Amino acid sequence: MSVDLPTYFSSYFATHPLFRPGALGAAVNRTQLDLRPFGQSMPFIDAAEHPRLTDLYHRSNRLAFDDDLALPGWVLVDFYLLPAAVGLLTCPAGLLEPSVRNRLGLSSQDEAIAAAYYAAPTIHPGTVLGCSLFSLLPRVGAGRVIKALTLRMLRAEAQRGVTQWDNASLRVHTRIGPLQVEAPVPQPHGKARDSFVYRIDLHGESAWRTQPRPLPGLDRANEDAWVDARDRQATDELLRRAASGERVEVVWPGLSDDGRLVRVRHSRSA
Ligand SMILES: CC(C)(COP(=O)(O)OP(=O)(O)OC[C@H]1O[C@@H](n2cnc3c(N)ncnc32)[C@H](O)[C@@H]1OP(=O)(O)O)[C@@H](O)C(=O)NCCC(=O)NCCS
Repeated sequence: MSVDLPTYFSSYFATHPLFRPGALGAAVNRTQLDLRPFGQSMPFIDAAEHPRLTDLYHRSNRLAFDDDLALPGWVLVDFYLLPAAVGLLTCPAGLLEPSVRNRLGLSSQDEAIAAAYYAAPTIHPGTVLGCSLFSLLPRVGAGRVIKALTLRMLRAEAQRGVTQWDNASLRVHTRIGPLQVEAPVPQPHGKARDSFVYRIDLHGESAWRTQPRPLPGLDRANEDAWVDARDRQATDELLRRAASGERVEVVWPGLSDDGRLVRVRHSRSA
């Protein structure tokens, strides 16, 4: 499917005029970033000069992830803000669910973080490591929009990352490209047993999926394999096949509508 991403993003922000993208990081990183990803203005926000927004990002992140993956303040500073910048999508707090707003101590008029994404630069030039995607405003595609803008802002050519076999984020990640399954996740990660390491090649932009799914629910009989996302024997087998040189990919839409099945494609060449 051929898509014009600049047109997609300008139409997205025309439909959601209260959403504002931004790049939150250390001033020294500003000149390295693409602050007009896909033609959208993504103003740079110096974290040192915006402590309230930085704190709000930290608290919003900790609200989105459970205790196993809670973001320590020093990791936010040393591995997010200082090496690069976090992509933010802000909105008036009045758009958030009242319970979410209250937990963040915000009033309706305050600025809130609708969604955010961060990927850290790695030792491989052009490859970033996705660390943190979250959205506090479901069902408006905020996660997919901020992930795509942030990857472009970081000038990423490939993205590696860790996710869980049953995480709703698979619906977001697979819109950008197939997730090539790479390896199991080292044990100290809070959700190692339920997770895998993946890689997405970001060169194939024409394959990025911006359109709604064509049908409510896919005809599973005609698809590649659908694997029970909570069956550890089955997901361990996928990891074993990937380790033995088979190409194993999680492909769009990633997860079934009920969140129980993950869609997988196998091919022999690696
Ligand atoms: C993952 C996350 C960012 C997605 O948020 P979002 O972008 O607002 O998501 P949306 O409501 O737009 O839904 C995105 C897609 O997932 C689908 N979806 C949402 N919840 C789902 C679920 N439990 N099971 C299956 N699909 C689900 C939606 O139908 C939509 O699919 P579509 O784009 O094909 O229509 C959000 O759920 C989140 O913050 N989770 C907690 C933090 C986390 O686990 N992050 C991922 C780390 S890898």
